[in-house]
Amino acid sequence: AQMRVIIDTDPGIDDAIAILYALRQPEIDVAALTTVAGNIGLSVTTDNAGRIAALAGVALPVHPGAAAPLGRDPAPELGIHGQDGLGGVIFPDPLAAPSVTGAVSALAELLMTEPAGSIDLFCLAPLTNIALLLDTAPQAAARIRRIIAMGGAVDEPGNFRGTRAEFNLAHDPQAAARVLHAGLDLLLIPLDATRQLRADRAYLNQLRASHTAPAIACADLIEAYFTADAQTAESRPLHDPCVPLYALHPELFRVETRALQVDPETGALDPGPHPIKVAMGLGASGLRAALKTGLAC
Ligand code: BDR
Ligand code: CA
Repeated sequence: AQMRVIIDTDPGIDDAIAILYALRQPEIDVAALTTVAGNIGLSVTTDNAGRIAALAGVALPVHPGAAAPLGRDPAPELGIHGQDGLGGVIFPDPLAAPSVTGAVSALAELLMTEPAGSIDLFCLAPLTNIALLLDTAPQAAARIRRIIAMGGAVDEPGNFRGTRAEFNLAHDPQAAARVLHAGLDLLLIPLDATRQLRADRAYLNQLRASHTAPAIACADLIEAYFTADAQTAESRPLHDPCVPLYALHPELFRVETRALQVDPETGALDPGPHPIKVAMGLGASGLRAALKTGLAC
């Protein structure tokens, strides 16, 4: 059976890889992309989402969401993802203009129209849109089958400006707390796991050699990821691709339930009263192979 999915995203180099992979898997049926301010501003993440769908050859609605986190200003990551959010890699123009329906309305509509418990959310970005959905359309939110979200740092150090927090949670801590404390069926994939899924130059060369447009685009994106901020690094972590990979290969992840809470100021994960399923480890070689095969087939 196919998984019906909405991808919430802020592309973003690793978002682009995750989306290209998801769009090529026959088991995953992507209903829409919803965008949010994160790695870069909303107009760019929205345009990029359309470009990524165009490269995959899929006419997919793109719904623009929140232009800023709840109660604070955006804090883009231009150093890592570049001024265009895609590391300067050239993507085709979007096949259509972004939808006039915003992300939160589109999420609510799709969830209310399709059978309850039939839609998964893949969350690759700050959780602003999902928090707004919980507050403005709780009956719709109750119909989500499950959420798989990249975010957080549990035992690992964070990656947001030298803090213990991870970018997606730190960019909108209030939204992260709202979503992670809501008691939804949710799996969080933190840096503890995503830092184990790494691409080195040999891997990007293998992707490039596989000759499909999405695999070549991913090779270019990983190359840009090296150039942008880690010219001396031997490998780069593939954070967001862990989300669709988990959906298709859950047996390759080690999942624990931890009692946690989100610090509403910093987005750090602290010990707390909320049992949250977190992926704390993964089988990197199996997942790297699955990603490559999935992009190349
Ligand atoms: C997360 O932050 C973003 O920069 C990446 O796209 C990923 O979603 C990693 O911390
Ligand atoms: Ca992202």
